[in-house]
Amino acid sequence: MRGDVNIKTIVIEGGKTLSGTINISGAKNSAVALIPAAILSDEEVIIDNLPNISDTKNLVEILNILNCDSKIENSSIKINTKNIKNVLIPEILSKKLRASYYFMGALLSKFNYVEMYFPGGCNIGSRPIDLHLKGFMKMGAKITIKKDKYTLQAKNLKGANIYLDIPSVGATINLMLAATKANGITIIENAAKEPEIVNVASLLNNMGAKIHGAGTATIKIEGVSKLSKARVEVIPDRIEAGTYAIIGALCGKNLKISNIICEHIEPLLSKLTEAGAEIKYDENSIIINKKTNYKAVNIKTLVYPGFPTDLGQPFTVFLTQCKGISHFEETLYENRMGHVSYLNKMGSLIKSHAQCLEIKGPTSLNGQIVTATDLRAGAAMVVAALLAKGKSIILDAEHVLRGYENITEKLSNVGAKIEIREIE
Ligand code: EPZ
Repeated sequence: MRGDVNIKTIVIEGGKTLSGTINISGAKNSAVALIPAAILSDEEVIIDNLPNISDTKNLVEILNILNCDSKIENSSIKINTKNIKNVLIPEILSKKLRASYYFMGALLSKFNYVEMYFPGGCNIGSRPIDLHLKGFMKMGAKITIKKDKYTLQAKNLKGANIYLDIPSVGATINLMLAATKANGITIIENAAKEPEIVNVASLLNNMGAKIHGAGTATIKIEGVSKLSKARVEVIPDRIEAGTYAIIGALCGKNLKISNIICEHIEPLLSKLTEAGAEIKYDENSIIINKKTNYKAVNIKTLVYPGFPTDLGQPFTVFLTQCKGISHFEETLYENRMGHVSYLNKMGSLIKSHAQCLEIKGPTSLNGQIVTATDLRAGAAMVVAALLAKGKSIILDAEHVLRGYENITEKLSNVGAKIEIREIE
């Protein structure tokens, strides 16, 4: 027990061949932005295909704190803000996930005032929010920071020309939220192009916002005064899809991964193919089989549409099975190597230097007791444990459950021996 919380572990008996179909859920990194974006409407908003993961549950808790009505039926959520109150979100909730900070842009846009604690999120680097705050200031917000809490206040937010030093996903979305009701036109240059940004822009435009260029490096937002009811569907989770594609390449026999947008994981699929994977494509699914003679490839994580940083850790497991020396470089985060020591404990031969890895393969992996240091490191542990000989126990499995809906059911259904166990 850690305090009053049971520690969740994932126990896996590795070496099974996985066959059948895995259906991909709605994207975590869309859903966690769409829920805060919904409060901009003055009427009811419905979000379909919402993944049932702890991050979305935590955001719904924040909606309740703000006195918003919300009702989840199957995988749709109805949100109504007619009785919304702009109260301080408790620090414990803000700290549960990085995406709590989208309430900053949404509440500032709706009330011209917001008081919030700094966000939490995976421990993969410093993860400042300077670009968000700089953008809000350009729109006329005054910011005061006291210890871990910041207050943003504006007479009236006004349109501005904002150049992002880094194409930050979070800053792009947060500034888009703030600009939606600002007076005048906002142009965001060097904007991030991730598909999740397009998903959020489509919800806002369905409400009556005037946003053009989402998904490109330049987004133009013409402020509007009223936003009405709207409905949106969360796009398939490209990181979940990529993680299962990697599992298919290592353990699959005709493993079908369905309800995906292939284009969103093209960087991964092309790297798997370069290494020798044979992938059959269908309209919105792929079929993949494990092979034993993969060749070494080199990877550098980049912003979209480059190879996604969130797939870097799971893909490292694949590289341990490639013949030769593969080189991997993480370019977005300074501390996203929590999985490496545990993979080496399982038998891989990975040398790391700063954000670069040199992976010698193929190596056989053996089940071990390992720890999920963050969400995608945890995903890497699942991938490795499914491949390894023998039993693995993954501690701090809560990290994994934040971003992979029904992961044990989805994997058991295709033949994995996997379960969640709580330890006192
Ligand atoms: C989003 O994080 C995702 N999280 C991350 O996924 C993902 O890794 C990341 O985008 C990049 O694709 C959510 O969408 C909830 P960034 P975000 O702002 O928005 C620096 C996962 O595993 N930066 O694009 O926080 C930052 O430190 C998570 O699902 C600043 O310097 O990412 C990082 O080095 C992990 N100042 C880089 O930019 C800022 O104000 C990219 O960060 C903002 C960011």
